[in-house]
Amino acid sequence: MAQRVPILNLRAQYKQVGETIEQSVLDVLRSGNYILGEHVHELEKDVAALCGVKHGVGVANGTDALILSLWCLDIGPGDEVITTPFTFAATVEAIALRGAKPVFVDIEPTSFNMDPRLLEKAITKKTKAIMPVHLYGLPSDMEPIVKIAKKAKVRIIEDNAQGIGATYRGMPTGSFGDVACISFYPTKNLGACGDAGMLVTDDEKIAQRLRTLRAHGSQRRYFHDELGVNSRLDEIQAVALRAKLPFLKEWNKRRDGIARLYSSALQGCPGITVPAVTATGQALSPQQLTHVWHQYTIRVHSNAKDRSADNKEREMLTKALSDRGIGSMCYYPVPLHLQKAFSNLGYKQGKFPESERAANEVLSLPMYPELTSDDVLYVATAIKEIMGQSSTVVPVTTVAPTFTGA
Ligand SMILES: Cc1ncc(COP(=O)(O)O)c(C=O)c1O
Repeated sequence: MAQRVPILNLRAQYKQVGETIEQSVLDVLRSGNYILGEHVHELEKDVAALCGVKHGVGVANGTDALILSLWCLDIGPGDEVITTPFTFAATVEAIALRGAKPVFVDIEPTSFNMDPRLLEKAITKKTKAIMPVHLYGLPSDMEPIVKIAKKAKVRIIEDNAQGIGATYRGMPTGSFGDVACISFYPTKNLGACGDAGMLVTDDEKIAQRLRTLRAHGSQRRYFHDELGVNSRLDEIQAVALRAKLPFLKEWNKRRDGIARLYSSALQGCPGITVPAVTATGQALSPQQLTHVWHQYTIRVHSNAKDRSADNKEREMLTKALSDRGIGSMCYYPVPLHLQKAFSNLGYKQGKFPESERAANEVLSLPMYPELTSDDVLYVATAIKEIMGQSSTVVPVTTVAPTFTGA
């Protein structure tokens, strides 16, 4: 069956901004100015402003942003960096590639983010930074994290790859850390037409060092003050991102409408849990917390007694959705402490039960601003039928996205 509701539809978004992008890409091609030019500079200013800080430094991708964030704070061999095992591999990869030791704390089960109540115990004399991840677009509980970091005199690096545009107690994600890292991977809420990333910071010295590190350790061409890399952002990606940036707020609002519609339509559905907008399990008002719904992720309860056993119910639901032309995806099926690439850290099954349970249960549903109410209700109805509740979906509140054509 052809996919009726794919997990993602980048072509639908391109229809809205394609003409602008194509014209400005042509202008760049004709200008002969391809790397770190005026468009990168303007994008850096605009993204920094969105994140409530002074400086943006464009780089090649989000992973480079993470590596450079650690590098610019001189974090390396002998140092420890605390994060969670329930994130995309790049977060931990960056720490390990710098030669530092990733130290995990478990997640809080309703938010899927770092549980700050476990942080203090994980801090040692070697801890140099805490790296919270705003997973799925929901801000981590930054108030206690900032408090603990200040007390311990350690840095905060926000992995804001998935959270651009989100706010926590009125402040944008990206404004809490010494430095924050953004990914513009095409599937992100603000996605380039290829790889791209950015670091944002309020600190002039950090920004200056990042600019040096991203360009072979050089501030003046062919004069190298220190080792660096080539991680520059090009003008073509910058114009694509600049064309999309003015829509981000509206797109994030639509995602919120879609999420609410999913949640009301799925209310009471057996065998699943819908996502909550909470920090540390405590619901905050929309003024205090905005989720930008990079993913809309449900939990599918497993009937297996053994928590490490495959979740047959999730497999069944994924397959049945696919049979009805509906895409779904598991972000992420194996927590990082149990991945082969990080086996040298010595963590065993059972060490981070909430991350392990999340990996066993999560399933992300189609989520992009161009989804129509019909699409969302088609997906929700299918889930209710598959999970054994064949009643017609009557949403409790209809906060339907206004977009109707993809
Ligand atoms: C949480 C998280 N961190 C880091 C990254 C890495 O970003 P990129 O793919 O741009 O290198 C991603 C994106 O895929 C991510 O989701």
